[in-house]
Amino acid sequence: MKMALDESKFDLHLKLWAIRVPREHCKLATRVLNGYMLDRPRVKPITEDPTSDKTRYLILSENIQNPDLSDIPDEKLAELKSLFEVEVVPYSVTLGYSYWTADHILKQILPSGVEAPSSFETIGHVAHLNISDELLPYKDVIAKVIYDKNYPRIQTVVNKVGTITNEFRVPKFEVLAGKDDMETEVKQYGAIFKLDYSLVYWNSRLEHEHLRLISLFQPGEIICDMFAGIGPFAIPAAQKGCLVYANDLNPDSIRFLKINARINKVDDLVHAYNMDARKFIAQLMTVPLSSLESDNHKFESSGEDMTSGEGQIKLEDRNVTDEVKDKFDDNSYKLETVENLCSQANANVITAKRRSEDNGTGGSADVAVIARTKHGSNKRIKSSESFTNKPWEHVDHVIMNLPASALQFLDAFRGLIQRRYWKASLPLIHCYCFMRSSETMEYIVSEAESALNASIQNPIFHKVRDVAPNKAMYCLSFRLPEEAYVDLHVTG
Ligand SMILES: C[S@@+](CC[C@H](N)C(=O)[O-])C[C@H]1O[C@@H](n2cnc3c(N)ncnc32)[C@H](O)[C@@H]1O
Repeated sequence: MKMALDESKFDLHLKLWAIRVPREHCKLATRVLNGYMLDRPRVKPITEDPTSDKTRYLILSENIQNPDLSDIPDEKLAELKSLFEVEVVPYSVTLGYSYWTADHILKQILPSGVEAPSSFETIGHVAHLNISDELLPYKDVIAKVIYDKNYPRIQTVVNKVGTITNEFRVPKFEVLAGKDDMETEVKQYGAIFKLDYSLVYWNSRLEHEHLRLISLFQPGEIICDMFAGIGPFAIPAAQKGCLVYANDLNPDSIRFLKINARINKVDDLVHAYNMDARKFIAQLMTVPLSSLESDNHKFESSGEDMTSGEGQIKLEDRNVTDEVKDKFDDNSYKLETVENLCSQANANVITAKRRSEDNGTGGSADVAVIARTKHGSNKRIKSSESFTNKPWEHVDHVIMNLPASALQFLDAFRGLIQRRYWKASLPLIHCYCFMRSSETMEYIVSEAESALNASIQNPIFHKVRDVAPNKAMYCLSFRLPEEAYVDLHVTG
């Protein structure tokens, strides 16, 4: 049964005194009585006099008990009396439910010693509470208070039910207050994201991480987002002038990703796919049969049109480097070097473009580039630069944001890239993972290496955030090892 909230329980009746002040003396009287007037947030101590429009009420502090004003120093009273005839009137104020803050009300409702959950995650018009087990009996009143105190900004209050078990990483929600509609809109770094919070993954707390990673990308780079969700990496990367291949297994995420690409005017730069990440990366980076035959194939940017060339390719000898480097020295995990890795990738963009121009195989697309204006604001401009619109020849960055299991997906890169066709440095992989306090960076790298079946050189860890007392989210960045290359023979 829902717990009802009796709003009248929060009424506080104050019996006060007020001074009737001629309008023209209000300012001066306020100055003289500074410290002796009603001092409650959001309540003005000067109000209309219901009996006359020539005078106003100056409401006195709760500490002024006597109508003879003996609590106010004589010199102040004398100053007032020199201005006008001081008349004291009784004045009552009721501070009701609408007056009090959510925190104040919740503290009164909840058992003492229990922290009131007055903060919540906001996703557009949706407030997402995380109500602890001990507070579950109060969930409806908590939600009503949050709703009442934040309406109209908040129109739906939800609580997560159970733990996330589905592969789309979407929690089950219970709507506790407001309308049962979680389709909403959020803004991040100037981009608009539409989403249905009941159908797709979204985490507002990742905003800084989205920004950080995108800051490493350069206009003209080619990005591959294996677990793209509704596009918080893909859309701003495209807004920066990158070409993005974005994939997610959740059809609703891809539906919203496409909407978001459109409303942010980057649909020409975001190619969306809806399939398992392993299949996606394999299809994306496998040279299509037509290209193997003619070297002149134009890659079609739709999931259905991707040609895997399966059955045509014989793996010959994998180029396994046996050079084992001492990669666990102290500096190898430092964040600063990620920029170096990226600037190297950027140089490769240019090399790759030149090479594809040289041999005439470069596909082309208009690139929308963000330029810095004189005033420092970003302005999208059109450039006639061409992309090597062939992801089996060149990808600069791969984003793998599925922290619970992305490391395991690294096996998708084993022997994936066809050396003969690849025209750049191998891509930088940005793989998200969780690390428990009992685990080490070495352990995470070894997990990544066994999935890749290759050694990782200069792994770089960036701590994203703590997700639990003994667990943090990290982004592990590294260049895909040479072992990912495969040398091919095309059979007839
Ligand atoms: C943690 S979310 C990250 C989404 C997005 N990058 C973001 O920051 O909001 C992981 C995403 O991976 C998708 N996903 C889960 N398993 C997948 C798979 N096998 N292949 C492709 N996508 C998958 C989920 O649907 C979810 O959208």
